[in-house]
Amino acid sequence: QLERKWITISLIVIGLFVGIITIDALFHGVNPPSKVETVDSASLHLNKEFAEDNLGVQVDDKGNVTVRMVAGRYSFFPKHITVPAETTLTFRWVSMDVLHGVHIPMTNMSTMIVPGYVAEITTTFPKPGEYPMLCNEYCGLGHNHMWSNISVI
Ligand code: CUA
Repeated sequence: QLERKWITISLIVIGLFVGIITIDALFHGVNPPSKVETVDSASLHLNKEFAEDNLGVQVDDKGNVTVRMVAGRYSFFPKHITVPAETTLTFRWVSMDVLHGVHIPMTNMSTMIVPGYVAEITTTFPKPGEYPMLCNEYCGLGHNHMWSNISVI
């Protein structure tokens, strides 16, 4: 019968899909990408020592500039940072509570900050000036007021 033929064909197609998914899972693994760094959000208490030891702008012996910041309802910490212009900056973000975003208008800086993960982004400011840093993921009632400043010198 015609109906039985179609049912058979459908089953074969479904079988193929399941097969492809299974083979894909076996060969590519179901693990997350290996370069993702995780962080324990609960440990990010914003006490004074933590901020002094870990946050802000740091330059290593090779001259690489790393900026470490924490996003939390409703600000970025530190509230204000100063960085050099025409320099490659590596920003490393973590969230201390919920999903936030960070966006600096007129730059390539726009990323989600997912709790538990380090969001790393590299950028360069071509010109000195004052830049606002805004949250662009809705994170609660204070979302519209979540921002901080960057002075580029
Ligand atoms: Cu943080 Cu919106």
